Amino acid sequence: MSTPSMTLFHNRASPYVRKIMVLLHETGQLDRVALQACQLTPVNPDNALNQDNPLGKIPALRLANGQVLYDSRVILEYLDQQHVGNPLIPQEGSARWRRLTLAALADGILEAAVLVRYELTLRPPEHHWAPWLEGQRDKIRRALAVLETEALAELASHFDVAAISVACALAYLDFRHPDLEWRQQQPGLAAWYFEVSQRPSMLETRPPA
Ligand code: BEZ
Repeated sequence: MSTPSMTLFHNRASPYVRKIMVLLHETGQLDRVALQACQLTPVNPDNALNQDNPLGKIPALRLANGQVLYDSRVILEYLDQQHVGNPLIPQEGSARWRRLTLAALADGILEAAVLVRYELTLRPPEHHWAPWLEGQRDKIRRALAVLETEALAELASHFDVAAISVACALAYLDFRHPDLEWRQQQPGLAAWYFEVSQRPSMLETRPPA
């Protein structure tokens, strides 16, 4: 067990943080990172975090030399270059762009899902904007349909940046938006997710009950 040399601003509920934690598990780097707990929302910022990331967003990763990395995609790329196993982000070729595009699709699901969550929990009900909410849910539905029809075999092929990102996005839908009942329209994705959610990296990074 080595002394952690990096600090990750962390919250178990954040699906973006979860992607980082899953990669740390999968690449055997957990003991290199100390976790600094953050409680924040866009209307209740964390002052310590703001010092290191002016955007006030997690995850942010402080390196041993004091440099701070954000956002989650940059941190994933950095951490994937710090281990000696098979890379979880292809370094070149068409595979790199395809896997990063699938990861971006998953991040888009997350972005819409987190915006809906904030609208419903932070804004007073009389200010909820139904067409905007439905527009965000439509983004999620379209992205899920593409994953179901075009990406299942690719996701099943290896548990890399694309698969980690999609798994964390689906888990967040279960966590904050069970009403979407995404499994009904995406049985293939549901079967794939059932499998990958049994991985130790996914089990040990579950959001709070
Ligand atoms: C959440 O509680 O849903 C959440 C927490 C941190 C970042 C994004 C979402």
